[in-house]
Amino acid sequence: MEAPMTHSESQAFRAAWAAACKVEASMMIIPSNYIFLVGPISFSGPYCQPNIVFQLDGTIIAPTSSKVWGKGLLQWLEFTKLRGITIQGKGVIDGRGSVWWQDAPFDDPVDDEIELIVPLNSTVEKNLSAPVRSQLGRIMPSIKPTALRFYGSFNVTVTGITIQSSPQCHLKFDNCMGVLVHDLSVSSPGDSPNTDGIHLQNSKDILIHSSNLACGDDCVSIQTGCSNIYIHNVNCGPGHGISIGSLGKDSTKACVSNITVRDITMQNTMNGVRIKTWQGGSGSVQGVLFSNIQVSEVQIPIVIDQYYCDKRTCKNQTSAVALSGINYERIRGTYTVKPVHFACSDSLPCLDVTLTAIQLKPQQEKYHMYDPFCWQTFGELRTPTIPPIDCLQIGKPSNNGVQSDHDIC
Ligand SMILES: *[C@@H]1O[C@H](CO)[C@@H](O)[C@H](O)[C@H]1NC(C)=O
Ligand SMILES: *[C@@H]1O[C@H](CO)[C@@H](O)[C@H](O)[C@H]1NC(C)=O
Ligand SMILES: *[C@@H]1O[C@H](CO)[C@@H](O)[C@H](O)[C@H]1NC(C)=O
Ligand SMILES: *[C@@H]1O[C@H](CO)[C@@H](O)[C@H](O)[C@H]1NC(C)=O
Ligand SMILES: *[C@@H]1O[C@H](CO)[C@@H](O)[C@H](O)[C@H]1NC(C)=O
Repeated sequence: MEAPMTHSESQAFRAAWAAACKVEASMMIIPSNYIFLVGPISFSGPYCQPNIVFQLDGTIIAPTSSKVWGKGLLQWLEFTKLRGITIQGKGVIDGRGSVWWQDAPFDDPVDDEIELIVPLNSTVEKNLSAPVRSQLGRIMPSIKPTALRFYGSFNVTVTGITIQSSPQCHLKFDNCMGVLVHDLSVSSPGDSPNTDGIHLQNSKDILIHSSNLACGDDCVSIQTGCSNIYIHNVNCGPGHGISIGSLGKDSTKACVSNITVRDITMQNTMNGVRIKTWQGGSGSVQGVLFSNIQVSEVQIPIVIDQYYCDKRTCKNQTSAVALSGINYERIRGTYTVKPVHFACSDSLPCLDVTLTAIQLKPQQEKYHMYDPFCWQTFGELRTPTIPPIDCLQIGKPSNNGVQSDHDIC
């Protein structure tokens, strides 16, 4: 998508990128102590030299003037079709999303004319971080941008930086191979709508570790086409937990395999570790390990929902994304609603679900909480669990073993 270039700062970024693009392993530096107001921009190959480093030490802020966004864009800062791209530094990417999170008319007259590079300590900073509301403002477009997106790239590294207040998802990888994210901070309020922390789609060989993710939706969301994903030492919360899915919407085929999520703490999240699929989908989720997840005041720590639906009711359908080899070990801590919720498909039950060393206690003993729930869930209890999860069906369903074409990925 061609991004509108309404700010001369975007032009400066574009010129700097054009120069960096020509030189292998070059560095584009965003100096500390400055705030840069940058409009939607794409840093793109495929003709760039490999291994460019984007050294982000200053702050990049998004425009809040609705004019800049036109009818809406899917992303604000985009890196596409690159080989070896690193974003590193102590800097901040601030989407100034609060103006997008409310439906009320909003416009920021400051952004249209502002001087474009400002020292971090100037008085303008205050105006930028708390933009004024206009009575006669326009409404922000309904399509909200992801703050930072990588598309179609190899060997991507994101480290050190903070991404905050994105209008929508904070960091997205789509069609990427070889991704390393570490020492990243994502920061948005728990009630900011649809603000996923990290969103992975059609991407392989991804390592995410040593990061703090606080947002209003999934801390990490793993979507279709993802395999060989390893996530460890991540703090999640507020947020909705770490999710695989939703998968199979509108009868689509989804394939996800070889996912490890371990050594995670979750505080005050809606879910802990969750797999969600729509009825009517096809494909499979295979080979998932959730290990050593410490939960604290999490509504439902362990969730499989194969009846995912974003409206009041969804049509019942027999086709489903097949789930197998889903392993939970050392999931411990406190919940506020229900310890375990396994709602698997009637036609394709969940297979090889294993539970090891599960210890989940209600946050407050005196209130009644829901008991563990399982529907069409088969597998193994490798150790006794707290609470007892008697509803898991041991072994395999009698009529299973036949894999139909539609679950083959
Ligand atoms: C503000 O920042 C500028 C540029 O970094 C610096 O020269 C100046 O001394 C700073 N002023 C204050 C009050 O910190
Ligand atoms: C920006 O902040 C300064 C200092 O607080 C103030 O004088 C100025 O009027 C503000 N500008 C706008 C457009 O709000
Ligand atoms: C990615 O990095 C690896 C290891 O450094 C290297 O072998 C591989 O060629 C790189 N891939 C691309 C497409 O540049
Ligand atoms: C699964 O993913 C891990 C990285 O998380 C990788 O090392 C391993 O080789 C993958 N296994 C298979 C069978 O691809
Ligand atoms: C779908 O199936 C469930 C379980 O069999 C049933 O309770 C529900 O009423 C059905 N919903 C619709 C919309 O048919």
